[in-house]
Amino acid sequence: MTPRTTTEIPSDLRAAFEQFPFQGAEGLHTPELGNVEKTYLSDCIDSGFVSSVGAYVDRFESELASFAGAGFAVATSSGTTALHLALLAAEVKPGDLVVVPAITFVATANAVAHCGAKAVALDVEEESMGLDPKGLFEFFDSETTRGPDGTRLHTATGAVARAVIAVHVLGHPCDIVAIAEVCERFGVPLLEDAAESMGSFVDGIHTGLFGFAGIFSFNGNKTITTGGGGCVVTNNPLVADRVRHLGTTARIPHPFEFDHDVVGFNYRMPNLNAALGCAQLERLPALLTAHQEIYRSYLRHFGGVDSVEVVSQPQGRQSNYWLQAIRLRRGGRKARDAVLSLGAELGIPMRPLWKPIPLVEAYRDGVHGHIPVATSIYDSVVCLPSSPAILRSSSPPLLGAGT
Ligand SMILES: Cc1ncc(COP(=O)(O)O)c(C=O)c1O
Repeated sequence: MTPRTTTEIPSDLRAAFEQFPFQGAEGLHTPELGNVEKTYLSDCIDSGFVSSVGAYVDRFESELASFAGAGFAVATSSGTTALHLALLAAEVKPGDLVVVPAITFVATANAVAHCGAKAVALDVEEESMGLDPKGLFEFFDSETTRGPDGTRLHTATGAVARAVIAVHVLGHPCDIVAIAEVCERFGVPLLEDAAESMGSFVDGIHTGLFGFAGIFSFNGNKTITTGGGGCVVTNNPLVADRVRHLGTTARIPHPFEFDHDVVGFNYRMPNLNAALGCAQLERLPALLTAHQEIYRSYLRHFGGVDSVEVVSQPQGRQSNYWLQAIRLRRGGRKARDAVLSLGAELGIPMRPLWKPIPLVEAYRDGVHGHIPVATSIYDSVVCLPSSPAILRSSSPPLLGAGT
């Protein structure tokens, strides 16, 4: 049974939810699919090339690289496998440490664990909800020393801090320029988990291109989808080659012989999924515009409600506004849960942010930092329906019918 919540929610906030602009929204984020997708999928099936080799994979990679302004894009079976391959390309080994932000989807930490390494979660900053560059600096400065080969050795465990992963939460760019400077200063490779931030830029540069590599996810709930899929973007040809090699069973090129120089993975994106991706890329500009419109609608709707603030892009950085969210100014976890319960009562799909990594059962025994900011963000943020389709359900409709 849904707990009674009436007393804990300010009346203007309750009223705002009762007059929610997108009644009938299904799920937090559903994909936009139509005739273009059907045409490309049907063409792909007719070609017979449905697996991991085919013209759509090549085209998707080249169009992705061109959209992001990246030298290379390597399509993968998911964002998680893209992270795994990128970490392996940075030579993350069993026993190493990799710094991650406390606020991220668990896949970021999972990819570290898949390398046999340990995720060290550090606190995030208030504005972007991303890794705090000051905390990162302090971690390297006070908790690591320079090893003989230039790597950073973690004093407490003796392990090598091999890489840092920065995440652009809900599509909002973190302070990636400052994070990149800290990584540079301490000589630690930077990987960007841009799973959620396709179409987000900092200083005109696409998120994902500030370190040695970045990754996108094309899971069904992302801005564009390939059903399931991801990619690694990089400007470094050696990284692109390594990712491609490891993701295709590390096969040594040969006209007919099968030999493999290391233990590789079958992580390539199938042509069928890439066909869907090519169709989705054609929609991307319209989808990005729709996400901005949904954000502006929420801003108008919740603008006068004193107890909440609509989560907005950090000053001076351009967000794709993938997933909309509000932050409760008061009341902590109890107030958040009351709002989530009200959503359940009213049939509005809402959810909390992910549990901070140090609180996730699988990662509780890690050597994490103190995370007061991450905890307060987790306690106060509520994600709202963000599918472009909801613009059609608003009255008057803000979006035309899909093609
Ligand atoms: C921040 C973040 N990292 C990684 C992933 C993993 O991507 P995928 O689901 O494609 O494996 C996701 C999304 O699912 C994500 O939101």
